[in-house]
Amino acid sequence: MITLGVVGAGTMGAGIAQLGAAAGMRTLLHDPMPEALERGAEGARRGLSKWVEKGRVGEDAAALLEPVASLEELAPCDLVIEAAPERPELKRDLFGALSVLCGDGVVLATNTSSIPVTSLAGAVARPENVVGMHFFNPPPLMPLLEVIRADQTGEPALALAKKVGAAMGKEVIVVGDGPGFLVNRCGRPFSAEGLRLLQERVATHEQIDRICRLGGGFRMGPFELMDLVGIDVGFEVAKSFTELSFGEPRWRPSPIQARMVAAGRLGRKSGRGYYEYGDDGSYRPADPDPPQPSGGGSPLAVLGDGPLADALRERARAMGYELRAGAPAELVVDAGVRPHPAPPGGAPLLVLCAASSLVARGEQGAVGFHLLPPLGGADDEGARMVELTRLPTTQSFACEAAEGFFRSLGFVTEWVEDAPGLVLGRIVCQLVNEAAFAIGEGVGSAEDVDAGLTLGLSHPRGPVAWSEAIGVEHVLAVLDALWEERREERYRAAPLLRSLSALGRGLRD
Ligand SMILES: NC(=O)c1ccc[n+]([C@@H]2O[C@H](COP(=O)([O-])OP(=O)(O)OC[C@H]3O[C@@H](n4cnc5c(N)ncnc54)[C@H](O)[C@@H]3O)[C@@H](O)[C@H]2O)c1
Repeated sequence: MITLGVVGAGTMGAGIAQLGAAAGMRTLLHDPMPEALERGAEGARRGLSKWVEKGRVGEDAAALLEPVASLEELAPCDLVIEAAPERPELKRDLFGALSVLCGDGVVLATNTSSIPVTSLAGAVARPENVVGMHFFNPPPLMPLLEVIRADQTGEPALALAKKVGAAMGKEVIVVGDGPGFLVNRCGRPFSAEGLRLLQERVATHEQIDRICRLGGGFRMGPFELMDLVGIDVGFEVAKSFTELSFGEPRWRPSPIQARMVAAGRLGRKSGRGYYEYGDDGSYRPADPDPPQPSGGGSPLAVLGDGPLADALRERARAMGYELRAGAPAELVVDAGVRPHPAPPGGAPLLVLCAASSLVARGEQGAVGFHLLPPLGGADDEGARMVELTRLPTTQSFACEAAEGFFRSLGFVTEWVEDAPGLVLGRIVCQLVNEAAFAIGEGVGSAEDVDAGLTLGLSHPRGPVAWSEAIGVEHVLAVLDALWEERREERYRAAPLLRSLSALGRGLRD
């Protein structure tokens, strides 16, 4: 039987100890603060008894959990997972002490979310025995475990971490060391690009969140998520990414975060962040239901190739629109990633804002739109919202035609300011871009990225699946347009994305 040690009996440690005992391991839980130890052990026992009631574990599981008051009592452990406060010196000291107290073969694992595991391994005599085991909060419920291979980690340590993770019932991914490892790194654009959109006033924070929920199927938008995590915590993470990467522009903190922290608006825990929280936790109205698709009948031209244009044509046809290749049509929708060279005139024109913003496209009277396939049906997670934008020169009949058309297909509409990819496209394309950088740098595989973001961060689909649904060409069009129109390094496309596109391949190949 494996003897597991857990150091730090807080939020994470208590949950990890519960998992250890449930997996049939003798589990020694230590915390230097007696009250914290008692509280953590109590929490783990409570969790175990719930699992006993549900028949998930046997009644003897709780007996495997032993709170221990001193670090010395961890001497018999085969594996120690530390979940102590996120302070590098404290964790280095702990590992130094444990490597002396425990046997030569002990594997020391850290649950750190931001400290390079390689730097902690450097603190012990046998660095090959150090590995990262990054659980997600709350550990008993979240299905993912990210195992981090430090530069020094040896195969036996990695094998033990994987085996214990699997015994705890987790889906285990093995990833390389680096800022945010794989999951938090690949998830960063969600908040980082959200903040950028807010800073540029492309949309309000309420709109950005609503678009992510209704347009992208995300459970929460970036601002409600940042409020939940704590704006101060997110700000510290962003600063640590910047420090560890020596200033990578994609990862820089936002001045908005700094201002929120300075104002004491830290999110849910302070009663106010981007939202204001009522005593009952309420902070926003319920989302609107998508309108009943009413269908059309009038002649319509949907131009362009690619997954979105195909999906829109299919939806319009199903709703009874008569599709034409060009004029005469009552509405022309250019849904191709690349602009149609000469869309037919004489009818309101809707253009997809992917390869440029509406203003850069130069169609003075057009309405811009953006959405990402797959298109949602009654009970799936696809798009239920279309974002629209207009220029001062766009006339109101064109705006009404755009709203009416998308409503008739069953979409909610949201007006935002002009930008390539508008809101959701910009966030998702940056998620795909970060994944491509991470895969290209060998931090993890395409499958690991998708498992990481769906199971670790509850995204509706992983960035690789997104890239397959919308096409690499669409992703590159949005990134290149942002780069062209902003001239900011943060929008440079990952070299892997560029080479895969040239070869006609996808991220999974
Ligand atoms: N909370 C999360 O969502 C989350 C998610 C993933 C990883 N993590 C990481 O897990 C670790 C623990 O986070 P947490 O949220 O459980 O923190 P926490 O504050 O809830 O718990 C930390 C515990 O460590 C104890 N402690 C203090 N000094 C100690 C020492 N010298 N040695 C051992 N224990 C000591 C404290 O008494 C406390 O009980 C951190 O490294 C954090 O970055 C946290």
